[in-house]
Amino acid sequence: MADRDDIRDGSNFGLGKPVENQSFYLKGCDNLDWGVKDRLSRIFRPDTGKTVMLAFDHGFIMGPTSGLERIDLSIVPIAEYADCLMAARGIIRTCIPPNTQKPICLRADAGTSILTDLNNNVVLDIEDAIRLNASAAAVMVAVGDSAMEAKTIANLYKMVDAGTRYGIPIMGVTAVGKEMTRDSRYFGLASRMCAENGASIVKTYYCEGFEKVTASCPVPIVIAGGKKLPELEALELASNAINDGAAGVDMGRNVFQSDAPAAMIQAVAAVVHEGLKPQEALDLFETLKNA
Ligand code: 5RP
Repeated sequence: MADRDDIRDGSNFGLGKPVENQSFYLKGCDNLDWGVKDRLSRIFRPDTGKTVMLAFDHGFIMGPTSGLERIDLSIVPIAEYADCLMAARGIIRTCIPPNTQKPICLRADAGTSILTDLNNNVVLDIEDAIRLNASAAAVMVAVGDSAMEAKTIANLYKMVDAGTRYGIPIMGVTAVGKEMTRDSRYFGLASRMCAENGASIVKTYYCEGFEKVTASCPVPIVIAGGKKLPELEALELASNAINDGAAGVDMGRNVFQSDAPAAMIQAVAAVVHEGLKPQEALDLFETLKNA
């Protein structure tokens, strides 16, 4: 029985003050459930509406690629500078301390390696995403791959259904196969298809005409960094993407293959969250690198 001692009647009803309508700060996400919004707000900073996700899921296809040979030595020390960590479950469980307190975007499909063409990917059981307390799960979609397009879209669909049941947002990741043209027509098509099929976040690549890709995608887009570039070019890429409507980056190699990964991720964050110009961010990178 609840303690009934000194029960006080409420008196502060704010009479005359209308309740303010709440509007969620991420595009296309107003009508999502509370749990999905809560998770999204761990990934996208509420003060800027943007995110710097650190992608190190490459090993699930590539094995111990350069910079990811030892996650404990390369990623764990820089995790504090990321808004979100994107990785596969085996790496999270074996290498990421559970008290890191960073939201996880869980790589949730598998079935392909660099040794073969795109394969028959399967998706992870949503229960494992729940066990890992994932804030999002990512599924690749191979639009334009005649063998795998339908299978990967079905994977996204299945994962969105499962994620919706438990309030976990799903990120659609647009693949770039050998025969897929890297232009705004292709990325616009693939990104829009991810959103139409229920993705709450889309990960794609920056390209000429990127503003059309972001304009026609009703949910936030983050860009992959792609192959390692000189630092200034990678910062220009992030800056151009943000200026053209991206809600952040999900960058891997341009951070962990940099000579100074901690300096690089902080420079990228300064571009994404503070709007630093690429040259200013490069100066920051040099300062941090030489500190
Ligand atoms: C591939 C991915 C990778 O995480 C992605 O490519 C990000 O890494 P990078 O910035 O190195 O390209 O999602 O499907």
